[in-house]
Amino acid sequence: RRSTTLLRREAVAATVPVAVAALLAAAGPATAAGPGTAGVGDPYFPLAGNGGYHVSHYDLTLRYDPGTRHLDGKAVLTARAERRLTRFDLDLQGLRITGLSVDHVKAAYRRDGQELVVTPRRALRAGERFQVTVAYDGTPAPVTDPDGSADGWIPTDDGAFVAGEPQGAMTWFPADNHPLDKSSYDFTVTVPADRAAVANGVLLSRRTAHGRTTFHWRQSEPMAAYLATATVGKFRVDQYTTRDGIQVYDAVDPREAAAAAPVLKRLPEVLEWESALFGRYPFRAAGSIVDHAPDVGYALETQSRPVYDSAPSLSTLVHENAHQWFGDSVSLTSWKDIWLNEGFATYAEWLWAEQHGGSSARKTFDTLYARPATDGLWAFPPGDPGSGANIFGTPVYARGAMALHAVRTAVGDRAFFRILRAWATAHRHGHGTTERFERLAEQVSGADLGALLGTWLYGRGKPGRP
Ligand code: ARG
Ligand code: ZN
Repeated sequence: RRSTTLLRREAVAATVPVAVAALLAAAGPATAAGPGTAGVGDPYFPLAGNGGYHVSHYDLTLRYDPGTRHLDGKAVLTARAERRLTRFDLDLQGLRITGLSVDHVKAAYRRDGQELVVTPRRALRAGERFQVTVAYDGTPAPVTDPDGSADGWIPTDDGAFVAGEPQGAMTWFPADNHPLDKSSYDFTVTVPADRAAVANGVLLSRRTAHGRTTFHWRQSEPMAAYLATATVGKFRVDQYTTRDGIQVYDAVDPREAAAAAPVLKRLPEVLEWESALFGRYPFRAAGSIVDHAPDVGYALETQSRPVYDSAPSLSTLVHENAHQWFGDSVSLTSWKDIWLNEGFATYAEWLWAEQHGGSSARKTFDTLYARPATDGLWAFPPGDPGSGANIFGTPVYARGAMALHAVRTAVGDRAFFRILRAWATAHRHGHGTTERFERLAEQVSGADLGALLGTWLYGRGKPGRP
């Protein structure tokens, strides 16, 4: 969710003509055996992720000095070869590699932009489990996204705001950097004793010695790399367990504390309300990281614990936590389907307002629909934003939510709410696509939604009134 200033600007980036086919060709075809590929074939981010293997677990050991901005890292990836592999790629942007081994044997590697190409001493057999250990260090810096925003490891005045959508995970650890690959994570992060390092999942231990504190976090449910965080700063911490047994950890920059408190205290109520609508909350941990990072301009639904660049509004809290179901648990298969994340999280905000004394979703829909055909809202269709430069544009959020409202109008409330819950349940800890959503919505409602979704998701310009 963008900060209000950015949202109001509603700048819709022009479609960047990308020679997708050429990039994909460079990324290489998926072959039955031999080298892995430089990407998983995502049309918007051709080099994101890697072909030929799957990572089941990341064990990241990090040490960050906010004063010098130096990061020391060790990443141990437990992976499985999907076919015979003579070499494979990881994604890593910047930083310096000081050691690399596969199954404890030194491996050859070379770097080519974000691709870290690893050639193990001997080829990996199809189905073989293997461990890659990468030691690295340096001064991490964010990546610039096609829309001009920055993501990844973003230094702040007291630490770092760490949020990796869509590309930034590779700025702080070597990764299979595409939501198709989901893994469990351990984070062991050491920072100066007056700072905290807040990652995903449950805090297993916190130890201070010699002026430094080490935090050990575990994210046990599968997570896409872009949802990982290890945000560092001076934080006030609040920990409790909800009635449903969810372990909440809130970390708040003292400069944001007064504004954040009344909103964060409603998290249990928001999670209960969302669970009633979308099904059981997908993770054992929850919470918020409220940073003071005025240059960032957005919040991110980092798994189990969204990160905010400043004290969020209640609506933003609802949005980022709705993503825990839509985006985090039900992951994208391709970035072009981003409306499955943003349209759903935005519609959750509309529903919250509707059920808490605010505007009805229908009213919100009508107000948006009244915008003239020249408005940026109609600049491109949410189901096919055209390029990575548009994935966080207004049509994805607002018209994506309008598409859901059009479904609701067509099938009625009963079927619609069953669809929302069935979607979250059917692909829990898995992956969705727009096609799968259409099929499921039709199965649940018994309605033919092809024409309606075709118009709202793929039609050029302002759709006719549904
Ligand atoms: N998914 C986030 C949200 O809507 C937005 C992330 C924006 N990222 C970026 N690099 N601009 O909640
Ligand atoms: Zn969002």
